[in-house]
Formats: sequence, structure tokens, C-alpha cells
Amino acid sequence: MKILKLRERKNLSEQAAEWFSAKWGISADIYKESILKCNGANAVPQWYVAYQDGGIIGGLGVIENDFHSRTDLTPNVCAVYVDEEHRSKGIAGQLLKFVCNDMAEFGIDTLYLVTDHTAFYERYGWQFLCEVQCENERQKSRMYFIKTKN
Ligand SMILES: CC(C)(COP(=O)(O)OP(=O)(O)OC[C@H]1O[C@@H](n2cnc3c(N)ncnc32)[C@H](O)[C@@H]1OP(=O)(O)O)[C@@H](O)C(=O)NCCC(=O)NCCS
Repeated sequence: MKILKLRERKNLSEQAAEWFSAKWGISADIYKESILKCNGANAVPQWYVAYQDGGIIGGLGVIENDFHSRTDLTPNVCAVYVDEEHRSKGIAGQLLKFVCNDMAEFGIDTLYLVTDHTAFYERYGWQFLCEVQCENERQKSRMYFIKTKN
């Protein structure tokens, strides 16, 4: 398994957009637009995939705001997903470590994410910060943060 930066793998843009779309039920065009914006000059947006045997088995992105009210808490890790048959092998952990290192190189010292999970991100050093209101959600979600240079 390798973790790939999609800014360096433009040929995977379409495949990755379709993969994220299938996981999250959001139009592939929206992912594609964001993925095609990735470059080495700007920290955000960025997209990363876990790649094995010619296929994507996991991935995540970094965007300005993952559709929540705290626009000051930015940038946000989003769309963290690992295919079911590859879970519990530490792939999400590797992706989360990878994104911290890459963002640190861009000079980003803090990353944020919103989730409903209550005991997953802690294992990789993320800390609960506060509750936030996400678009189209009745209940508040949990905001976590991490220092990228930990
Ligand atoms: C959450 C997810 C990304 C974890 O991916 P993964 O590659 O299996 O994660 P890791 O291998 O790094 O860690 C797995 C460990 O976390 C635990 N874990 C997974 N989800 C958890 C949760 N919601 N709460 C607590 N622990 C959880 C697993 O039981 C496993 O523990 P173990 O090693 O003791 O068996 C994956 O389950 C997934 O894609 N889920 C659906 C999408 C999702 O919820 N994404 C997060 C959106 S915020």
C-alpha cells in the first residue's frame, strides 16, 4: 500500500473523484473540481489516496471548511474513508499521519476535522475541541484538532 498525493498524480483525478463520490454520495464532479485544484503552491485543497494493486482503498482530503459554522477553524481534514475489507490495518492512521506531515511542510500548524465519532481520532493524537453546527444536520458534530508537528 502506498499513500499518494493527488497533486502529483493528475492521471488518478477521475478515478479518485469517482471513488470518493461512491463512498460519500456526493457528486463526482464536486470532488473532481477540488482534486484538480490541488497543487504544490497552496496547502488547500489537497487530496490523498491509499493505493494498492492499481486501486484506491482509502483516502481523505484537506479543504478550507467542511460545511460547518466555525469558519475560523481551518483547514479541515475531510472524507476520511477506508474500504471495509481493508479496515483495522492502520490505513486510516497512516493517512492521518501523512496529511499532518504534508501540511506541516506547507506551514500549516493546526488541522481540524468534524466527525460524529467519539473514540476514533483520539488514537491518532487528535483532541476534541468543541461542538459545531454542520450544514443540513439536526444535531451538532464534534470538532477535533491536531498540531501537525507533534
Ligand atoms: C473510521 C475508518 C476510517 C477507520 O479506518 P481504518 O483504516 O480501519 O482505521 P485504523 O486501522 O487506523 O484503526 C482501526 C481501529 O479503530 C477502531 N475504530 C474504527 N472506528 C471506530 C469508531 N467509530 N470508534 C472507535 N474506534 C473505532 C477499530 O475498531 C480499530 O481498532 P483495533 O485496531 O483495535 O481493531 C473506517 O472505519 C471507515 O472508513 N469508516 C466509514 C467512514 C467513516 O466513518 N469515516 C470517518 C468520517 S469522520
